[in-house]
Amino acid sequence: EAAPVLTIDGPSGAGKGTVSRLAAERLGWHYLDSGALYRAVGVAASWADLDVSDPAALVRCTFDTSVRFEEGAQGLRVIVDDVDATDELRLETTGALASAIAAIPEVRAALKERQRAFRRAPGLVADGRDMGTVIFPDAAYKVFLTASAGERAERRYKQLKEKGVSVTLDGLLREILARDARDAQRTVAPLRPADDAVLIDTTGLGIEDVVTRVLAIVTG
Ligand code: C5P
Repeated sequence: EAAPVLTIDGPSGAGKGTVSRLAAERLGWHYLDSGALYRAVGVAASWADLDVSDPAALVRCTFDTSVRFEEGAQGLRVIVDDVDATDELRLETTGALASAIAAIPEVRAALKERQRAFRRAPGLVADGRDMGTVIFPDAAYKVFLTASAGERAERRYKQLKEKGVSVTLDGLLREILARDARDAQRTVAPLRPADDAVLIDTTGLGIEDVVTRVLAIVTG
């Protein structure tokens, strides 16, 4: 009997990360941040100074890069090839690089089994773009989170400002729209809700409200 899965997909800044982590914590389930895997490949590629327009090199890099998640005092740390890359992983430049790399079919294929390996008892909350459509199509519980682009940009802006990263709201909005367009328009695993996903528009909703709605889907 395969462990139950709750998939949480949606565009960047819709609140997936926070909501997924809280949902996993309260259910006592494992958590997969699939975006971190694509970001990790992006970071490894930039460390190795790879040409982003060379898909073969990026595919090799995907196979060669090790990614580990460790629960630290300040939350989840992401270790890429034995280096703590958590802070670099969060940069919007890394997100953009990840999005370019994520459009390569062989990269997605190479990460498929690695993602499925996170499915373990008592259950898994999987956060990403294609969790409900491609990676865990048989998941019992599927959510698609959205929010207006303006609100998503504002949330990112606050997050980054708290971390001392200097960005403008305008620039961020433009980057978010460009990344969403690329994620939605690519031919492999484009960002879209699974047919059986519950859509939740989080515009104007607080984190707790969203978590409550998501947990209600699992606990009935
Ligand atoms: O969710 P996050 O912003 O960390 O993801 C970074 C990028 O990785 C996304 O913009 C998307 O292009 C890619 N991604 C993906 N499939 C996933 C998770 C992330 O294509 N399941």
